[in-house]
Amino acid sequence: MAARFEVTASKYRPKTFDELAGQEFVVSTIKNSLKNGHIANAYLFSGPRGCGKTSAARILARSLNCLNSGGGSPCGGNDAEICDNCRSITSGSSMDVLEIDGASNNSVNDVRQIKDEVLFPPHSGRYKVYIIDEVHMLSASAFNALLKTIEEPPPYIVFIFATTELHKVPATIKSRCQQFNFRLIPIETIQEILKKICAENNIKAEDDALFWIARESTGSMRDAFTLFDQVVSFSLGSDGVFIQSSLIREKLGIIGLEKLNAFAEACALNDAPLAFSLTDEILSSGVAIEQFVIDLSGYYRSLLLLKNGITRESLLGYRSALFSQKALGTYDSVRLEQALDILLDCYRDMRYGVSPRFELETAVSKLTWLTKWVSHTELKEALDKTRGITIPSAQQTQSQPQYQQQAPQQPQSQSQQQRSGDGRSLTDEFNRMLAEKGKNVSNNSGDNGYDEDVPMWSKDAAPRDAASRDAVSRDNTSQNAPQVEQVLNIIPGTVVQ
Ligand SMILES: Nc1ncnc2c1ncn2[C@@H]1O[C@H](COP(=O)(O)OP(=O)(O)OP(=O)(O)O)[C@@H](O)[C@H]1O
Ligand SMILES: [Mg+2]
Ligand SMILES: [Zn+2]
Repeated sequence: MAARFEVTASKYRPKTFDELAGQEFVVSTIKNSLKNGHIANAYLFSGPRGCGKTSAARILARSLNCLNSGGGSPCGGNDAEICDNCRSITSGSSMDVLEIDGASNNSVNDVRQIKDEVLFPPHSGRYKVYIIDEVHMLSASAFNALLKTIEEPPPYIVFIFATTELHKVPATIKSRCQQFNFRLIPIETIQEILKKICAENNIKAEDDALFWIARESTGSMRDAFTLFDQVVSFSLGSDGVFIQSSLIREKLGIIGLEKLNAFAEACALNDAPLAFSLTDEILSSGVAIEQFVIDLSGYYRSLLLLKNGITRESLLGYRSALFSQKALGTYDSVRLEQALDILLDCYRDMRYGVSPRFELETAVSKLTWLTKWVSHTELKEALDKTRGITIPSAQQTQSQPQYQQQAPQQPQSQSQQQRSGDGRSLTDEFNRMLAEKGKNVSNNSGDNGYDEDVPMWSKDAAPRDAASRDAVSRDNTSQNAPQVEQVLNIIPGTVVQ
């Protein structure tokens, strides 16, 4: 029978503390306590999936029983080089290290059995170690049955608990254990490990492709290895395995950064036809609609981070220089925030809408006029500016509630228009402001009744958010368009044509 393919995650399970990546704090603390002979009754390892809890538990168990460890790391190397105790623990045949799955052995009876067993000393090692994985799955009574044993076990007993859900472990258990929180493994570390594995196995790989795998695994080494195996399986060519970004994109339906850049540039230029045709092209190439929305959200998030001076590749997903400078130059933080809002809403709505594609296309359409979008705050600030009111700080606002009456958040209909301190309506205020600038609004020339210098903004630059839309319809009827336009011209980043 042909030898079974061993998945990378098992093949590269760390065997010594030094091989455990990204958990420096845990490793140094445990190594120190081993060196000083301060062995706890019970350890509790918690943290996200696939970041080394079970591996660390096994390494600790081996350290405790290794014939060569001398109180430090267990022996490393291949099976022929390690001691008998380490070999039996690694192969799972040791009578002294018992691994129990907490999910399927979660009853009081299971715990009772453990309590009976702990009375027997270890077979060949110094310690008898119980590793209970997914310990949060134990029932409440099983936990209670364990308390006494954990607190005062026979001197040769060590418990190691591992869990992804620390909050489900009762405080009574936690307080009897030395706790170690495992962390997500940094992208760069994962990329380095993958690089090393490629070199050891004669696998050629593009840096970008390995970075992508590392990024997709979101801090879990196991996820990285699983994805790596999948990518290797379709990257086998005539002259060996070659891992390439383009092949990953093609096989896994991933959108490249160039496509996302092109899309964002089309939106930045308000080129809706181009944005729609790019969307169609991307979806036709086999990219799932959800994936497109996720990737676009990630892209606009990266632009927002870049706008705020963050250039770390591990946060952005790509090198900062690769992002479209045109898109970056066009948008400010407020509009990027809005782009993210649109896409995150779209993702949520896709589940309940008529068709996910319709939701996506609506979002695309909104993105194509994002440059003209105005936030409520900007609108309010602009209105305040036209009225010569300086905006008070939050503190002042709290202490002066009457401010709300003076500075409405959005324009009101004529009948509802709020009165300023001297009783004049907003319309009066605008007219006064324009009159001061030497413009007579009521005597406009042109067939639409408005001054040619101040074209009707509702023609092609209508704001699309609800508040502004309301403002348009009301103000159109009340002949206020030029005034509102003046307001919009004050708002940063707003193009009023
Ligand atoms: N810190 C790490 N350094 C190197 N490899 C790791 C690390 N963490 C995980 N791995 C790899 O991932 C595999 C799974 O790790 P392990 O079983 O220790 O994770 P875990 O934290 O127990 O995950 P889970 O919570 O899902 O049980 C290992 O076989 C190993 O190949
Ligand atoms: Mg585990
Ligand atoms: Zn050993």
